[in-house]
Amino acid sequence: MIEKYMRESLKSFQAYVPEPDIYDIKLDANENPYNHSDEFLQELKETITSELLTRYPDTNSVDLVTEIADYWKVDSTQVICGVGSDQIIDATTKLLLNPGDIGLVPTPSFSMYKHSICLNHGEAIEYSLTNDYNYDIESMIETCKLVKPKFMIICTPNNPTGNIITNEQLEKVLSHVECPVIVDEAYAEFTDETAIDLISKFDNLIILRTFSKSYGLAGARVGYAVSSKEIIDAIRLCIPPYSLSTFTQIVAKTSIQGKENYRKYIKMLKSSKDKLYNILCEKKQIEKVYPSYANFLLVKFKNKNVSNKLKEESVLVRDFSNHPLLTNCLRVTIGTETEINRLLDAIDKL
Ligand SMILES: Cc1ncc(COP(=O)(O)O)c(C=O)c1O
Repeated sequence: MIEKYMRESLKSFQAYVPEPDIYDIKLDANENPYNHSDEFLQELKETITSELLTRYPDTNSVDLVTEIADYWKVDSTQVICGVGSDQIIDATTKLLLNPGDIGLVPTPSFSMYKHSICLNHGEAIEYSLTNDYNYDIESMIETCKLVKPKFMIICTPNNPTGNIITNEQLEKVLSHVECPVIVDEAYAEFTDETAIDLISKFDNLIILRTFSKSYGLAGARVGYAVSSKEIIDAIRLCIPPYSLSTFTQIVAKTSIQGKENYRKYIKMLKSSKDKLYNILCEKKQIEKVYPSYANFLLVKFKNKNVSNKLKEESVLVRDFSNHPLLTNCLRVTIGTETEINRLLDAIDKL
C-alpha cells in the first residue's frame, strides 16, 4: 500500500543496515575497543539526577559546546553539536540542497554522504580517489568547477581507505573552490592533523568531528561541526530542538575533560595497527594491505567471500567487496590484542 504514496526516489533506496550483534569479535564499525575507566563511569553515575531526566535538555548544549570551543581555541558561536556527526551531515545537506541540486562526494568513501543527499532530494556526484586511494587534488578542483555542486565533501582520514588530505593540499582545494567544503575528520584523532586552524582563513570550510571513534562513545551518539558563526547559525536551522539528550551532553563533556586518558588509547591503537599491518602483509591469503592513518585497515584478499568465512569463526569485519573500486576488500577495525588474535586465527583457516 505505502509504495503508491512514497517518494519516487526512495522506492529503490537501499537503507544502511548494520550487521546483527551476534558475533564474538566485532571489528566492523571502527569503534574504540577499550573499556572506560571506573572513575569515568562513577563520575557519570554521580551526575544523574531525577531532574535531568524529567526536564528537556539544553537545546544548544551550551556546556558541551563551550568545552569543545575551549579545546579548539575557537569561539563557542563556531561550534554546533548533533546526534552523531551523521546528524550534522544530514542537517548541512538539508540546508544546502534544493531538489535536484548536486553534492560532490568522494568514492570510495563513507556511504552516509550519498544517503543523506538522496534523502534530502539531491543528487550525489562522486569524484574518484586515485588507483592507490589518494586524493587527486587537480582532478577534484576540475570536477568541482565542472559540476558546480552546492557543496563538496572530503573525508580525512578517509573511510574505508585510510588515506588523508594534507592541509597544504586542502588549502589548494579551498583556494580554487567557492562552494562550502565539508571536511569530515571523524578519525582525525588518529593523525596529528586537523584543518580547524584553516577556518579563520576560509569562510566556506566546515569541519566535522565525532566522539564515536577515538573517544569510545559510539553508544552516546554525539558529533559536532566547527565553522564560521554564519555557517553554524545556518546549520542550526536544520537541527530539531532538544536533539542531544542531557545524558549525552554530560557524557561527551566529561570525556573531553578527561582527554589525556584517550591519548593513551590512541597510542595503543596506532601501535596495534602498525603491528597488524606488518603481519597481514605477510599472509598468503592477502593481496594488499593499504596504509592507514585511522583505526582500521583496508585489506584486499586474493579470494572472494572472505567475510562470510570469517563470520563462521564469529569474527565480523566490514565487507566492501561489492563496491566496484574495492574488489575483494574488507575493512578491519583495530581491536584489542585478543580480538586481533581471533581475526588472525580466522584468516589462517581460510
Ligand atoms: C567518516 C565518517 N564520518 C562520520 C561517521 C559518523 O559518525 P557518528 O557516529 O558521529 O555519527 C562515521 C561513522 O562510521 C564515519 O566513518
